[in-house]
Amino acid sequence: MNTTVAPLLFADQYLQLSTTLASSLVSGLGEHYTPLVLDLNWTSLTLWNRDMAPHADANLYGSHPFYMVQEEDGFAHGAFLLNSNAIEVMLQPTPALTWVSTGGILDLYIFLGPDPQSVIRQYLQVIGYPMMPPYWSLGFHLCRWGYATSNATRMVAQRMHSANFPMDVQWNDLDYADKRRVFTFDPMRFGDLPEMVQEFHKEGMKYILILDPGISSTSPPGTYPPFEDGVKRDVFLKNATGHILIGKVWPGPTAFPDFTNPEARQWWEDCIRIFYSKVPVDGLWIDMNEPSSFVQGSVEGCPDNELEKPPYTPRVVGGQLNSGTICMSAQQKLSSHYNLHNLYGLTEAYATHSALMNIQGRRPFVLSRSSFPGIGRFSAVWTGDVRSDWEQLRFSIAAVLQFSLFGVPLVGADICGFEGNTTEELCVRWMQLGAFYPLMRNHNDKPNAPQEPYVFGQKAQAAMRSALNLRYSLLPFLYTLFHHAHTSADTVARPLFMEFPTDPNCLTLDQQFLWGSSLLISPVLEQGAVELSMYLPAGTWYHLHNGQPFHSNGQYFQLPAPLETINVHVRAGHIIPQQEPALTTAASRGNPFFLTVALSTSGRAWGDLFWDDGHGLRTFETRNYCYVTFTAGQSQIVSDPLNLSGALASLLLGGLRVFGVSSPPLYVVANGEKVSDFTYQADIKVLTVTSLALPMSKTFTVQWFP
Ligand code: NOJ
Repeated sequence: MNTTVAPLLFADQYLQLSTTLASSLVSGLGEHYTPLVLDLNWTSLTLWNRDMAPHADANLYGSHPFYMVQEEDGFAHGAFLLNSNAIEVMLQPTPALTWVSTGGILDLYIFLGPDPQSVIRQYLQVIGYPMMPPYWSLGFHLCRWGYATSNATRMVAQRMHSANFPMDVQWNDLDYADKRRVFTFDPMRFGDLPEMVQEFHKEGMKYILILDPGISSTSPPGTYPPFEDGVKRDVFLKNATGHILIGKVWPGPTAFPDFTNPEARQWWEDCIRIFYSKVPVDGLWIDMNEPSSFVQGSVEGCPDNELEKPPYTPRVVGGQLNSGTICMSAQQKLSSHYNLHNLYGLTEAYATHSALMNIQGRRPFVLSRSSFPGIGRFSAVWTGDVRSDWEQLRFSIAAVLQFSLFGVPLVGADICGFEGNTTEELCVRWMQLGAFYPLMRNHNDKPNAPQEPYVFGQKAQAAMRSALNLRYSLLPFLYTLFHHAHTSADTVARPLFMEFPTDPNCLTLDQQFLWGSSLLISPVLEQGAVELSMYLPAGTWYHLHNGQPFHSNGQYFQLPAPLETINVHVRAGHIIPQQEPALTTAASRGNPFFLTVALSTSGRAWGDLFWDDGHGLRTFETRNYCYVTFTAGQSQIVSDPLNLSGALASLLLGGLRVFGVSSPPLYVVANGEKVSDFTYQADIKVLTVTSLALPMSKTFTVQWFP
């Protein structure tokens, strides 16, 4: 960094700081519709939370004033401007960058790395490590706007399971609410919502519904306690003259809770508690929390002052800061909305997370649209109203990877697309990619053709089912990655450059990505494609499906990519813990485990498994978990369990697949006893051992003898 290239400006509503950059490989500065590595050719990115469907050149739902620069030789550094005002970042090909903020202070952090993953770890030491998600939230979620009744909603879940699609969570959008008012349910169409939720629970499923922050302000007196209590407790944002600011959202005129006010957070918790006592939801989906409003500023407009019209307005959609949201001069407990706007979603996520924690006494699940640094401690994020088209499918990978850099590992795009009708082929490819989003949810807009897996032809259904089963089989591995994100700030969905920072081919790759350091996902992103050119970094990789080895010098391979599969490769030297899939995680968590062992050329591999009850609070911090390592070498695999909680009691290892076994084994021995069920495929050098029943909570050894 060199900040002497231009003057530092520090005025009341204008702060400016410039620097040259060590290279042109800059990532971050979300949330925008961009590739993973940003375009520095005289572009600008505005950080201003806005209800805006993802498209180029627009400020979107979240703001993350953090970037990482990949320097030469695999080094990297990062910078974070901790500032919640509207920020514009100008990028130029020098390469150089200029921060302009419309307020606050210059609180700038530099992270020296020296490698990309260390940069992220250092950033997360400032903003907080991500929460540990409940196990079930890693299952498949199904949603749409337009499940018009509780019976229609029930039918969806039923049809999913009767067609043998794994699915953990059924969702409802605004349809459930009486006149679109949150904390109510429609007595005619959703009168038996409480019963419906109980039924889902009996089937081992979970249920989530949407919760908008806008509180309807025009219900007849005595009929809508959330608003009336809120007025009494003085929880709503005020306009410049000290009256409750009224905007417009789905239910019509609405007031907005001020989540920076502790009393408002308590009121929010009370509202959730009362609703929860009738409808025991498993998680909450907080939408429209930029906050979004359908009138500019308020129903009465905004005053004409320097907050609404600052001397410098960054390039925002709508041209004014109060476009699509509330007045800048609105008053919150902590400060003006001008200063707090970008924090609205974060403060709501915090309030919702702690409310759920207090009410449920379990690990909360919250999904937020709007975001700011630190939100990963409380919430998952989705990428908003993506269109059902191939370009949006492609860009969704960069979006997910950017949230990895922002400390929000639990993230995904609306699978099959939200806006517009999907097609069968697009939806299959999106389900396959979505099976590797850390958060896997299919969601659809109200007017569109249905896109639940069961509406498609048999071939498409089979492809989606196999993607879902593959994901469910990998959940023990995914959960372990989340454990490392939670405790060590590792990334889950990981850009290739983070794992192979010195490989020039990986610098800008964002059409493939990794899970952790060992699974490489190469989805089809083009209509009609049945072959795929995919990059494999130098080393040996095995096809996850059958163990076929690929020895790469750091090169592209042209591989078949028929509609029915997604290409996933395991990196030599790694062991992936898996479990037989089932229709829910409640069921799959009891199934036998199996290991996929990808031997290095010297015959070694290592892997681990984190396991707990899947929903308890602070299980790691209170040592209420199990942790098992698996080590392969010298023709054997040994496990080393740390069994602190008993969560693995009665769980078994049912089998394993060893990739890269150089000579045919004559016999296999497990815990000292000969095993009869094993096969060896000489052409691809894969040993498969089945019908084991080795307790996971104890050390086990599996050996093979040539
Ligand atoms: C906007 C959200 O982005 C979308 O996912 C949701 O379906 C609609 N609001 C309706 O609640």
